[in-house]
Amino acid sequence: MARELAAFIQKGGGLITVDDLSHYEVKEREAVRGTYRGFEIISAPPPSSGGTALIEILNILEGYDLAKYGRSARAMHLTLEAFRRAFFDRAELLGDPDFSKIPVAPLIDKKYAREWRESIDPAHASPSKDLRRPASFSQLEQFARLHPSSMRESQHTTHYSVVDPDGNAVAVTTTLNESFGSGVTVEPLGFLLNDEMDDFTVKPGVPNTYGLIQGPANAIGPGKRPLSAMTPTIVLKDGRLSLVLGSPGGPRIITTVANILMSVVDYGMNLQEAVNAPRFHHQWLPDEVYVERGTSPDTVAMLQQMGHHVVSEDYWSDAECIAIDLKTGERLGTSDVRNNGKAVGY
Ligand code: DON
Repeated sequence: MARELAAFIQKGGGLITVDDLSHYEVKEREAVRGTYRGFEIISAPPPSSGGTALIEILNILEGYDLAKYGRSARAMHLTLEAFRRAFFDRAELLGDPDFSKIPVAPLIDKKYAREWRESIDPAHASPSKDLRRPASFSQLEQFARLHPSSMRESQHTTHYSVVDPDGNAVAVTTTLNESFGSGVTVEPLGFLLNDEMDDFTVKPGVPNTYGLIQGPANAIGPGKRPLSAMTPTIVLKDGRLSLVLGSPGGPRIITTVANILMSVVDYGMNLQEAVNAPRFHHQWLPDEVYVERGTSPDTVAMLQQMGHHVVSEDYWSDAECIAIDLKTGERLGTSDVRNNGKAVGY
């Protein structure tokens, strides 16, 4: 297969060789873990930014009584500010851990979230261009200085969640990046090639296909893996399986999973309601809030008054999730109403 694949790619002018493929290894990595209001969050570690960003977002939000605010403009504003800060950190600090030191532990530290909260104005949007990492939390600033090397430099993603009758859970997200990847099928082998190179920082300061401005830790290099936003997530309550979550959606994957989790934990929705609810997204740059169809116009007006640049869109992502009824153990499959997925039982 490697020989056929390399020959096919080279015929098309591509660079991949049999030697590259023989050096490729699948890596098993420790999941990142955090907590949110008594739930344990287990999610994807670098080179995905998903789990780290999700836990950073949740840590920031844990300091606010979101249940009291309900799904209001005020709660949305605080959530957007958490999204903005986590994506700011993602852009500067995250990449392939085999090549740069990635400061996951300080990023998912609750103390760090507390520092970030102090920079959040409850009534006004923080302009992304003025965002600065909390000065009193110097560890991450020092990190950037100590690692100069890291400073120099459906559209086809699928998520599925599985829980077997014994309660074993799997959250899988797999990606070709854009729709049909590179649009090239390896003829003798019958599969598509991805276009994942765009998940790297192709050029500092230049947005990728998802509008992300990324940092040097995610620069292209030989043997390197690109930074991802995939966020396959398993949530436990009192040590027992509670939720299995995930979605496609590029950078919106992270905020889709956060939206769903908060809708369940903070706003008391069942998982299907949480999956159906209109989503909102912020990724630091561009400094815009994206809201899905169905978001209340009053809420949009209030966000605008706080200084957010709101862009209304149709819909995005495709969350395919499972909740476990903690009393009966029943597995409750939920499929995203926006697409053609399906919950199946066995
Ligand atoms: O790994 C990533 O972050 C991207 N390749 C995901 C792309 C994606 O989800 C596109 N689907 N809508």
